[in-house]
Amino acid sequence: MRRALASLLKMPALRLIGQDALLAMDPERAHGLTIRALNGGLVAGTGTPDPKELGVRLAGLKLPNPIGMAAGFDKDAKAFSALGQLGFGFCEVGTITPRPQPGNPRPRLFRIRAARAVINRMGFNNEGHDAARARIEATLSRAPETAPPGINIGANKDSTDFVADYVAGIERFSDVAAYLAVNISSPNTPGLRGLQGADALNRLLGETLAARQRQSRQPPLFLKIAPDMDEHQMDDMARIISRHRLDGLIISNTTISRPMVGGLEHAQQQGGLSGVPLFELSTIQLARMRQRIGADMPIIGVGGIHDADSAIAKMEAGANALQLYTALVYGGLDLLQEIKTGLARAVRARGLEGVSDLSGLKNAHWAARPLPIQPET
Ligand SMILES: Cc1cc2nc3c(=O)[nH]c(=O)nc-3n(C[C@H](O)[C@H](O)[C@H](O)COP(=O)(O)O)c2cc1C
Repeated sequence: MRRALASLLKMPALRLIGQDALLAMDPERAHGLTIRALNGGLVAGTGTPDPKELGVRLAGLKLPNPIGMAAGFDKDAKAFSALGQLGFGFCEVGTITPRPQPGNPRPRLFRIRAARAVINRMGFNNEGHDAARARIEATLSRAPETAPPGINIGANKDSTDFVADYVAGIERFSDVAAYLAVNISSPNTPGLRGLQGADALNRLLGETLAARQRQSRQPPLFLKIAPDMDEHQMDDMARIISRHRLDGLIISNTTISRPMVGGLEHAQQQGGLSGVPLFELSTIQLARMRQRIGADMPIIGVGGIHDADSAIAKMEAGANALQLYTALVYGGLDLLQEIKTGLARAVRARGLEGVSDLSGLKNAHWAARPLPIQPET
């Protein structure tokens, strides 16, 4: 009896709550509860180090495994330490804007359960630079073994100069970030995606990279882009990127298109779609961007990864590391271990040395696939 109680107490609180119970709750409430459980230390890691086949190097970073937590889950840097303990290879916090802002009115987060998808129009709800910075510093001094997070920076909705907001983010976080991610691809801040156009992007990259060069510590700078670009826009983007010394790309953010969800409840909600229906689109766009920018630029592949096979496919399309978010809503944190085990098994079965050797193996196949056509609803 006493032993049963002891093992119960050791169980991660999230497992006690259960994925079904979380899925029965309002999505934002479930998310808040999850963050609180992680922040409160109510988690247990596996305790086993990752097999060496899973280690990757990315823009000078050494990651124990290629699976990261995508931006948007830990917006205010409350849970990155716990996520590292749970076995993520890296964690991206944010998006963080200079000033705190409430985001869009609720409801703004919708599950499409039958498609294992989510639509969100959160609108960069976050506590701002100062709060996040204080929390990151406190966490790193309390638990010095914690890997510093990647920090995803954005612009306030009411900002009069979006570029200045990104520069402020670089100045504020360069000394504590594993890397910085310039997020210009959220569909929920009016005008933000306009920064992906050639002239605006040229100015943005010029100013943000110059700001990074002025810092005493200079973490890699990544650009996070949308999957909703046509070939012409992708050409423009690749041309501008080639002029600058950007360290990598994160492909992709959510989509404003609606593949595979036609007719399902909430499918017509405004916002960005993520999860399984995003997988095909984001993977094809990653492969096509890889063809444009060449083999050397690091790419973090994100969008719809939901099992080991989809993680392997994203690597084969040309990714060097991966991130996920929505699949965890449906599969829970156990999914992480399942994906890592599957990746390691695939590496061994193919006689490869490490997971990085999967990168780009099927790039041509993915780049040639037609983009998923939006079904009529
Ligand atoms: C609720 C929610 C909030 C998000 N917030 C952000 C954000 O603040 N910044 C960002 O760059 N991406 C954000 N994302 C996008 C994710 O980082 C990721 O690019 C996208 O969800 C695709 O991955 P997935 O299909 O594995 O979820 C958010 C996604 C979701 C579902």
